[in-house]
Amino acid sequence: MCGIVGYVGRRPAAPLIFEGLQHLEYRGYDSAGIGLIKADDTFELYRNVGRVAALLECFEPRQSDSHVGIGHTRWATHGAVSVLNAHPHRSYHGDFLLVHNGVIENFKTLKSFLLEKDYAFYSDTDTEILANLIEFYYQQQATTEPASFLQAVQEALRHVQGTYGLAVLCQDCPNHLLAARNGSPLLIGIGDNEHIVASDAAAIVTYTSQVIYLRDREIALMSSDDLQICTLQSENVSAEVCTIDWSPEEAERGQHEHYMHKEIYEQAQVIVNAIRGHISDDFSSPRFGGLAPLGNRWNEIDRIVFCACGSAWHACLEAEYLIEHYAHIPVEVEYASEFRYRNAPLSKRTLVVVVSQSGETLDTLAALAEAKRRGYPVVGITNVVGSTISRETDCGIYQHAGPEIGVASTKAFTSQLCILAMLAVYLGRLRHMDYTEGVSFIQALQELPQKIEETLLLEQQISEIAQRYYQSEQFLFLGRQTLFPVALEGALKLKEIAYVYAQGYPSAEMKHGPIALVSKECPTVIFATQAAIFPKTLSNIQEIRARNGPIIMVATGEIPMDPSESEAFVIIPKTHPALQPILATIPAQFFAYHMALRRGCDVDKPRNLAKSVTVE
Ligand code: AGP
Repeated sequence: MCGIVGYVGRRPAAPLIFEGLQHLEYRGYDSAGIGLIKADDTFELYRNVGRVAALLECFEPRQSDSHVGIGHTRWATHGAVSVLNAHPHRSYHGDFLLVHNGVIENFKTLKSFLLEKDYAFYSDTDTEILANLIEFYYQQQATTEPASFLQAVQEALRHVQGTYGLAVLCQDCPNHLLAARNGSPLLIGIGDNEHIVASDAAAIVTYTSQVIYLRDREIALMSSDDLQICTLQSENVSAEVCTIDWSPEEAERGQHEHYMHKEIYEQAQVIVNAIRGHISDDFSSPRFGGLAPLGNRWNEIDRIVFCACGSAWHACLEAEYLIEHYAHIPVEVEYASEFRYRNAPLSKRTLVVVVSQSGETLDTLAALAEAKRRGYPVVGITNVVGSTISRETDCGIYQHAGPEIGVASTKAFTSQLCILAMLAVYLGRLRHMDYTEGVSFIQALQELPQKIEETLLLEQQISEIAQRYYQSEQFLFLGRQTLFPVALEGALKLKEIAYVYAQGYPSAEMKHGPIALVSKECPTVIFATQAAIFPKTLSNIQEIRARNGPIIMVATGEIPMDPSESEAFVIIPKTHPALQPILATIPAQFFAYHMALRRGCDVDKPRNLAKSVTVE
C-alpha cells in the first residue's frame, strides 16, 4: 500500500507534506512525489524514485509559496518503479493532480473508454486512468466551480470498481482539496484554519489530534476553513470527530537506531497497556468491557473462527491452543484471504474474530465482510482507533500498543498474544476455570512486564549469536504446542527483515521431511520451555545433532538441557504457560534484528514489504 498526505490551509504546504510523507514512508517507499498549487494558481509537480528524501534532489520544500498540495509515497502495484509511474499523476489536459492508494480493478475498461475519447497516457498505472476519468467528467460540467470539481469526482468514482484512498487537486479550484475513500484508509485532520488529509494519523498528529475517519464511498471537499463530506450520491454526511489517542513523540524513534528496536523495547509498557482496565475487581479473571455488546452470547458460542494475516495469524494460532485448553471451545484459525472464498461451514453459535494491528488489511476486511454477509457477529482486535475494523465489527478490544512504525511487527504481536491469552482465560472463567486458576493467571499477568524487562537484557547475547550465523542462508525454527506459533513468527521475522529463508514447524514434524535440510549450513532454532514434553524435544535435538545441524536453544531455566548439547543457548524467565510464548518471542525478534543489521538490510523498510497491505 502507499502513503498519502494532502494539505490546505494557512501554513506553507510543501514542508508539511514532505514531513508527513516521511512519517508515512513505512507504508511504501518505491517512489515519492509532491504536487502543489502555486500562488499564481498553477501546478508544480516533483517526483522521484526511491525514498521521500530523494525528492530533495528536485526541489526545496521551504522555497515553495503554495498553501495547497498533495503528496504520495508508493508501494508499486500497477507499473514498475519509475518517475513516470510515481504519484501525483496529472490528467491529460492538465486540470487535475491526483494521488491514490489502492487498486482500480476495472482499469482496462476505463482506459479503453478514455482512449476512445482521445485521451493519451504516459504511465502504466491505474491511477493515471482515474485522473483522466475525473477530467473527462469535469469537462462535461457547465462551470469550473468547486461544486463541479466534486460532481466530476463523484461521477468518475461511480464507474470505478476497486479500492482507493484519493487526494485530488483541481487547477480551477486553487483553494480546495478533495479526498475520497473506498477500502483504503484516509483521515482528515481538523486544524486551526487548515485541513490535513493522510493515510494514517502519523502525518497529522503533530498539527492536530482531532480527526475524522472517512468511510467507504465518502468524499470530502475542503478549503482552509470549510469541510463538506458527502457520498457518491451527494447525500450529506455528518461525520464524527475522533481524538488521536497517542502523542507525536510516540511516533518518533527517540534514541533508538531503528523503530523496530524501539518497539521491541516498548513491549513491557505495551503489556501494561494491554492489561489496563481488563482485570476483574477480585483479581480472578480478565474482563473486557468492549465485548459487552455480545452479552450472553459469550456463554453460548460453541466455535470460534479467527481470521487474520501474517503475524496476526500466528497470534490467532496461539489463541487456538489457549482457548481450547482453558475454555474447551473448538477454534479454527483461517488465513483471511482464504476464509473469504472458502465458504466454511459455520454454525449459528459460531463467533468470528478478526485480528489486525492496522485494522486496514484488505484481506482481513474482506473476511470480516464475508462473515457479516452471512449474519455472524464479528469481534475485532486491533491497534488503531478508528480503523475500519474497529468501526465495522460488532465489538472488540483495542490493543493500545501505540503506533507500530517498523514494518516487521513486534510489539503489536506480543500485545495480541497477551490480549488473546486474556481472552482465553476470560472464556475459561465463564466455563471451567476455577477461582485459584484465575488468580494465578492474573498474578502472572501483573508480573509479566518485569519479566519482559529481564528478557530484554538478553540482547547482547543474542547479537553475538547472530554474529556467528549471519552468513547462513536458511534456518529451521521448531516449537511444540504453544511454542509452535512462536516458531512460525520467528521464521517470519527472519524472512522479512534479513531476507533469509526460514521455516517454522512443530518440533516433531521436522522428522517428516524438513530434516532433509539439516546440515551445518542450516541452523535450527528450538524453543523449549515446557519441561513435561522436553524429552520429546530432546529426541528432535539429538536427531539434528546426529546430522551436524547447529542448534540455537531458547529455553527456561528448568529445562534439563546440557548447554554443550547446543551451539547457542538462551535462558528466558519462566512465567505462566499461557504467557510464556510472549517471552519466547523476544529472542526471536532480537535475532532477526541483529541478523538483518549484519546482512546490511534496511530493518525498518525491508525490500518489497509495506506495513499494512491494503491491496489483495
Ligand atoms: C508482520 O511482521 C508483517 N509485517 C505482516 O505479516 C503483518 O503481520 C500482516 O500484514 C498483517 O498486518 P495487520 O496485523 O495490520 O493486519
